[in-house]
Amino acid sequence: MNTIPLAMHGPARHRPVTELDRARRIQRIKRLLVEQDAVLVAHYYTDADLQALAEETGGYVSDSLDMARFGHEHKAKTLVVAGVRFMGETAKILNPEKRVLMPTLEATCSLDESCPADAFQAFCDAHPDRTVVVYANTSAAVKARADWVVTSSIALKLARYLKDRGEKILWAPDRHLGDYVRRESGADMLLWQGACIVHEEFRAQALLDLKHRYPDADVLAHPESPAAVIALADVVGSTSAMIEAARTRPARRFIVATDNGILYKMRQVAPGKEFLEAPTGGHGATCKSCAHCPWMAMNTLASLEAALTTGGPEIHIEESVRRRALEPVLRMIEFAASQKTGVLGLGNA
Ligand code: 13P
Ligand code: SF4
Repeated sequence: MNTIPLAMHGPARHRPVTELDRARRIQRIKRLLVEQDAVLVAHYYTDADLQALAEETGGYVSDSLDMARFGHEHKAKTLVVAGVRFMGETAKILNPEKRVLMPTLEATCSLDESCPADAFQAFCDAHPDRTVVVYANTSAAVKARADWVVTSSIALKLARYLKDRGEKILWAPDRHLGDYVRRESGADMLLWQGACIVHEEFRAQALLDLKHRYPDADVLAHPESPAAVIALADVVGSTSAMIEAARTRPARRFIVATDNGILYKMRQVAPGKEFLEAPTGGHGATCKSCAHCPWMAMNTLASLEAALTTGGPEIHIEESVRRRALEPVLRMIEFAASQKTGVLGLGNA
């Protein structure tokens, strides 16, 4: 079930936040992070203020894979994860001894929501001959049933690796990413039919029109986008790969098919270049068609300050589930590292 957070349905009727409030809040959060031996780990889709805070306080801003790796390697006793719930859960799976706080636990993800653990379990049981690969955008209970967890940055590499080993794949939950990986790798993949409500809104025809208006622009697309959008892209990749392409490619103008929170980092790493948002499902002004994840948007300075002040909400995962989920998550981190070093020390995977 895809639910849009209530807060997104209408304008909030709060006292406007002044520049002074904002600055005070930022100072207070900085102080609380130090006092509580906490580090802020934020996703590229979160509010620019949060990304800047993470960077200024020795924290980290990245894609979902690197967020997991950073939190795992960092010494702080508390990880504060600004993103969506599966990112906080992955941090807890990897770091049971650490306190993992999030600005809100209501920040879910349509992919996670589309894949309830019970139904997924039955799907896996019906296909015991397949290696189960799940996207990181899933609950801890779904990860606990998987052989592998992947993020978009390594999904294609892993599919090729498994194909070379003669393994057939059961993939969940994103059908667009799964379809892209299947087409590119030629692996035998059975797909769960979930989708991201943000990326699914990108429209190929409108993108083509925009390309005609700006023929010099490169198109960067996240692989959660529909196939017709991906077919128009110059670069398809994870959020980190898209940012790297924006930095390194010679084009001066880019059309970006992913959550518009990423533009903060793109403008930072490629000053002077121009970034246009890829067109979404229309001008109907529904929050579903605004190229911004409604759950990522629930991470605010106010909710971050509240989390650090009250010590919650905190991520808790039942220990038996956490232990089972740990294996495929560690496998993901090890596989990603092996792609950099070329060494595959994958034990019994
Ligand atoms: P990345 O792993 O590329 O950061 O993507 C996470 C995500 O939720 C994309 O919508
Ligand atoms: Fe999930 Fe899509 Fe939001 Fe990413 S952008 S967290 S895939 S709903």
